[in-house]
Amino acid sequence: MLNYDQLVNSALADLNNCHSLDLLEKVRVKYFGKNGEIAILLKKLSTLSDEEKSTTGKKINSLKQSFFQKFEEKKQSIEQKQIQKKLEGEQVDISLPTREFEEFNSKVHPITHTVNEIISILGSMGLNYEEGPDIENDFYNFSALNIPQNHPAREMHDTFYVDNGKEDLVLRTHTSPVQVRCLQKKEFPLGIFAPGRTYRCDSDITHTPMFHQVEGLVVDYSITFSNLKWFLEKFCKIFFDNNNLKLRFRPSYFPFTEPSAEVDINCSLSSGKIELGKGSEWMEILGCGMVHPNVLEMSGVKDKKLQGFAFGMGIERLSMLKYGMPDLRDFYDCNLNWLSHYGFSFLETTDLSWR
Ligand code: DAH
Repeated sequence: MLNYDQLVNSALADLNNCHSLDLLEKVRVKYFGKNGEIAILLKKLSTLSDEEKSTTGKKINSLKQSFFQKFEEKKQSIEQKQIQKKLEGEQVDISLPTREFEEFNSKVHPITHTVNEIISILGSMGLNYEEGPDIENDFYNFSALNIPQNHPAREMHDTFYVDNGKEDLVLRTHTSPVQVRCLQKKEFPLGIFAPGRTYRCDSDITHTPMFHQVEGLVVDYSITFSNLKWFLEKFCKIFFDNNNLKLRFRPSYFPFTEPSAEVDINCSLSSGKIELGKGSEWMEILGCGMVHPNVLEMSGVKDKKLQGFAFGMGIERLSMLKYGMPDLRDFYDCNLNWLSHYGFSFLETTDLSWR
């Protein structure tokens, strides 16, 4: 009759010798497949006496149990080994030596660096980063900013017009259109800044056809001109890293703000170079004011109690003053000697320890 112990031993030994899922499946079929050893055995069962049937049946069940328990263990261990092997094959050796530092002699462009500084400072002062398109239509760039058709202020902008045969498109002449786009969302209180490229048909020592500005806008129920003064003073002192810096607000005119002001910082020009925060000369750095009610209205803001301040600054100008570059056109001359001198290491970041 059946040599039960021999069958158990050979089944478990077969399982033990499996080193792949394929082999494991073959062993399962060998014993428990349709024509496997157990099936043959079961066929023979009918020839046995009742008592033998019962004991043999029990033994087969117990064999089945231990076989499949072992089978599962083996399957898991093979799968685990396969994963391990795969991971070892994919390993990155972090102990490999790095390339010589000299090979990384590329520099971050001063404008990129200055934009990053401005983002860090204005972001940490609570304003949210926003962007607008470089190609704007007439509404956003002019009309909604209280500069209607034939308004003389349009002349000040030396606009590049874009002809697509359908609408009045321009390369944005300033970042102020982002104000309108943000106001239109009607989510108040609103506090945003928007750095980006701007374009004017102009080129000399202080102008390039493409340049950068950053716009700021804060709107709520109780925003006043003194909030604006506090905000800009704080920003300038941090940006120029100079607590002695004085700001002068000079009455001015912008169609989109009322009252409007231009802001100067004090400096000394006596030693042949510009020293900020010293002396009694003044250097203009930005324009600002209280948002004109027409701008709020044109942007769809119905609540007459909302008011706010706005400001706009030229980024090249800020960068030149802070880092002492004499000619704005050098920024876009693609001169690698200039870049290696004025550029920044990619590890240099803005110091926000003042917070
Ligand atoms: N958009 C103005 C320009 O390009 C700068 C400016 C002035 C922006 C006053 C403002 C502002 O938001 O309030 O010259």
